[in-house]
Amino acid sequence: MQLEPGLFLFQSRLDAAAQRELWTECRALADGPAPRYPPTVRGGRKMSVGMLCLGRHWNALTYTYEERRSDFDGVMAPPIPERFVDLAAAAAADAGFVVRPDLCIMNYYTAESRMGVHQDKDERAETIAAGIPIVSISLGDAARFVIGGVTRKEPTRPLILRSGDVLVMGGPARLRFHGVTRILTGTAPHGTGPGRINLTFRKW
Ligand code: SIN
Ligand code: MN
Repeated sequence: MQLEPGLFLFQSRLDAAAQRELWTECRALADGPAPRYPPTVRGGRKMSVGMLCLGRHWNALTYTYEERRSDFDGVMAPPIPERFVDLAAAAAADAGFVVRPDLCIMNYYTAESRMGVHQDKDERAETIAAGIPIVSISLGDAARFVIGGVTRKEPTRPLILRSGDVLVMGGPARLRFHGVTRILTGTAPHGTGPGRINLTFRKW
């Protein structure tokens, strides 16, 4: 359902079996030849999530996208499985957006992980200007997610994102500030977790 213009939350879009299957595939990728790792950002702070980018790598030092992980190990970003792209494109379509994402950032959250409030604005200027959405799929433990306006001073509202939920931020909501303030440990459905995996699909 639409929460705000361009902001859609599809609760329980993935059923239990689909959640387990996607969780298992994500874990295999995250433990594969291009493993997930906690990026070090500009200024030297280490992020509290384990990250793996698919399709294109987000460089945490330059805040730009590239083919190889030049801020970490120089390994090529693995391709996004087409099945993942299909899931994201279908959710975007149900929110009224026509897009086939070409990159995905997988973040793995433990009980202590957080994501500071930020805008997703490192994609190409044309993509952002066109309001091409970010599609976010949550798996495992639920999270307290907060979303504000397009300026930092607007208040944020909390949303609980549970395993199987899909959030779409596009059009006028594309540049809304957002973050993750807490992981609700012990809430992961059987066959997922412990911890939380969030996939954000983007067009570069
Ligand atoms: C992000 O903003 O990149 C991740 C959001 C989330 O984990 O739900
Ligand atoms: Mn984000």
